[in-house]
Amino acid sequence: MVKVDLSGAAGFFTGAGPDYALAGLAHQTLADKSGLGADFTGWEELPRRIKETELDAIVAAADRIRARSQALVVVGIGGSYLGARGAIELLKPLPGEGDPRVFFVGNGLSPDYLCDVLRQLGDSDFDVNVISKSGTTLEPAVSFRIFRELLVKKYGDKADEHIFATTDARRGALKAQADEKGWPCFVVPDDVGGRFSVLSAVGLLPMAVAGIDVRRVIDAAIAEFEALDLRSPENPAWQYAAARQHLYHTGKRTEILGCYEPSFRFMAEWWKQLYGESEGKDGIGIFPASVEFTADLHSMGQFIQAGPRDLMETIVRFAKCRDRYAIPFEEADADGLNYVAGRDLADVCRVAADAVKEAHIAGGVPNIVVEVEQRNEEGFAALVCFFELACAISGYMSRVNPFDQPGVEAYKKNMFRMLGKPSSK
Ligand code: PA5
Repeated sequence: MVKVDLSGAAGFFTGAGPDYALAGLAHQTLADKSGLGADFTGWEELPRRIKETELDAIVAAADRIRARSQALVVVGIGGSYLGARGAIELLKPLPGEGDPRVFFVGNGLSPDYLCDVLRQLGDSDFDVNVISKSGTTLEPAVSFRIFRELLVKKYGDKADEHIFATTDARRGALKAQADEKGWPCFVVPDDVGGRFSVLSAVGLLPMAVAGIDVRRVIDAAIAEFEALDLRSPENPAWQYAAARQHLYHTGKRTEILGCYEPSFRFMAEWWKQLYGESEGKDGIGIFPASVEFTADLHSMGQFIQAGPRDLMETIVRFAKCRDRYAIPFEEADADGLNYVAGRDLADVCRVAADAVKEAHIAGGVPNIVVEVEQRNEEGFAALVCFFELACAISGYMSRVNPFDQPGVEAYKKNMFRMLGKPSSK
């Protein structure tokens, strides 16, 4: 199970400190399905609920793609891509032998980015996994149209065999197209919102194509959600949710998520969507930001150390590194580094993390550590379950509906008006 260390935050707690009783109530509300947005709380059941036949179909589709293509183009935005991208960059930052490259498109409207992907794709054989719960989101719909045209140019009347759709079981333009064209269809369950969907086909199919063992992910997620059902202040999700809510009420309005693994970058993007979209509403919310250490210590370090004192910091740590590498000894010692020669990089990194923690706490930034064992399928699953549950508890503690996102409609309305979208579409 994930471990949470609040020792670096405890010095900032005031009064009675984090309200574990309220965290417990929030957890109960979630479990009873009696809170706001209860219709969208199916994410906690996803790993238990997924049928063996569905997992088989996901793995079979992935095997088919892996056998015939050098690339998979994943079309999706927000919750329809960040989880898969986070997982793949965390666990497979470089494709292994026989692993197709996975490109993510439809998460913006930049023609430059699109053309860069097209150039990298070259004349590789590829498949497309189009992911959209609503089936109507503009960005992925535009990219999908472009890649469909490309598939037709490349494969002619076999183009449809290269398309896999992940969408609503019944509704939406994408579902209608898939039914008409006979594309294999995977389901985004009705009771799961985009940002909570990574443990459904939304995340699992691209992950399986990248060579991630999705059965291991699901088994680990079942065990993790079971462990996180603990109803006590020992529950790490209660600790994290209650601590960050408490710190927010002491004036810490921004939470920075940091990690010393560069491969964590898109997991942090996934986390930002999860917390930002779930909590930023009704005029309140902790602003979620992220940094990559040690790189950002040389850019954002100054701000964190000495800027406005409204920050809290959460560091994700992997207890064991996958690899070790000892720093070489040099007789001449021209760079003066022999004092660390022979030490493993992992040890030096750990010392750096301890030094940063001490400095940031001294500078007024509370520090929370979230630790999992290793950067592998189990570690990924543990982080997903932990952050999802803590997010729901934290949202209920702040009395918002953590499962809706009414604010994202505002720009869409303007954009559709400016683009001249007919009201019937
Ligand atoms: O979390 C969410 O609900 C959003 O980020 C959606 O996932 C995103 O807007 C994409 O929506 P859709 O999957 O309907 O295309």
